[in-house]
Amino acid sequence: MSSVIDIENISKVYRRSVVDFEYGKLKLRFKERVVHALKNLSFNVEDGEVFGLLGPNGAGKSTLIKILMTIHYPTTGSARIYGKPYWNVGVKRKIGFLPENPYFYDYLTGDEFLDFYGRLYEMPEEKIEKRIPEVLKLVGLDNFDIEKLPLKGYSKGMIQRIGLAQAILSDPSLIILDEPLSGLDPLGRKELRDVILKLKEQGKTIFFSSHILQDVETICDRVAILYQGELLNVGKMTDLLSTDITGYEVQVNTYHKELIQTLEEKAEKALVHEGEVFLFFPAGIDINAILRQISETDEKAQIISVSPRRETLEDYFIRKIKMGE
Ligand SMILES: Nc1ncnc2c1ncn2[C@@H]1O[C@H](COP(=O)(O)OP(=O)(O)OP(=O)(O)O)[C@@H](O)[C@H]1O
Ligand SMILES: [Mg+2]
Repeated sequence: MSSVIDIENISKVYRRSVVDFEYGKLKLRFKERVVHALKNLSFNVEDGEVFGLLGPNGAGKSTLIKILMTIHYPTTGSARIYGKPYWNVGVKRKIGFLPENPYFYDYLTGDEFLDFYGRLYEMPEEKIEKRIPEVLKLVGLDNFDIEKLPLKGYSKGMIQRIGLAQAILSDPSLIILDEPLSGLDPLGRKELRDVILKLKEQGKTIFFSSHILQDVETICDRVAILYQGELLNVGKMTDLLSTDITGYEVQVNTYHKELIQTLEEKAEKALVHEGEVFLFFPAGIDINAILRQISETDEKAQIISVSPRRETLEDYFIRKIKMGE
């Protein structure tokens, strides 16, 4: 596989002046605030990958994306996209981009907005006309009654969708999306995840930031984890996550009070609701002994499910960030 994005030792320092004004003593001072938003980042994104850029609020995800899009400049370091410097104008033709919290023209309808962007991409008129219904369908906007509706009448999720439609309009081979799943309901997130997978099937490379870890886990080939501007890790999900069993989830249906009490004492977490008992046991517990105890204590008890739980991206993320591991 060849590299599409090569990030080479990028650091970004934001400096801003802050005026410190005290009215009582009439003091006026200027202070400089320095934020090290990115600290010497290096990694690459390969052709045809779905690559997730993860990190908590303020980690530097948007800063990195803005640098790749030449909206901001790195303080040191550089990046190459398709082997060319990231600021190369020609290379921009191969990129579709959805910014974080996009601000679009309120008074254009979806069709007019896409037509406008098609012209910015210098697409031929006939191609724009053909492509608009295709992308509207792909992002699921054809399910909404948006004919003649200006963008100011769009919901947040609809704006995300039209933003994505704009990003893929010119059929770019690299699609960079800053928080594409934010503002979407669970169904909308599932639909957009499917769109991303469809784009991958078409051979596109997708680089996107997110803090919705379950979504990332299901669609990304690789992820990079940023924390306070530093790259904590980069790799395949299977390499990052431990395959060790972290515990067992058990559902059992029983009304046997003593049994329920014993299980509650042994479990790390327990939830009891009208004869349905949900339990979480830590790894290392003798789960077979627990199951035996259930059937020996209450013959009527029904063991509905026993599922071993493995580390999720969320567990990993919390382990890495909160525990400073
Ligand atoms: N234009 C700017 N001027 C000064 N500081 C900035 C600027 N843009 C971002 N920062 C700072 O840089 C750091 C990284 O911000 P950034 O927006 O890249 O984070 P993020 O990972 O995208 O966060 P979020 O998940 O909230 O979108 C933050 O501390 C932020 O305050
Ligand atoms: Mg951001």
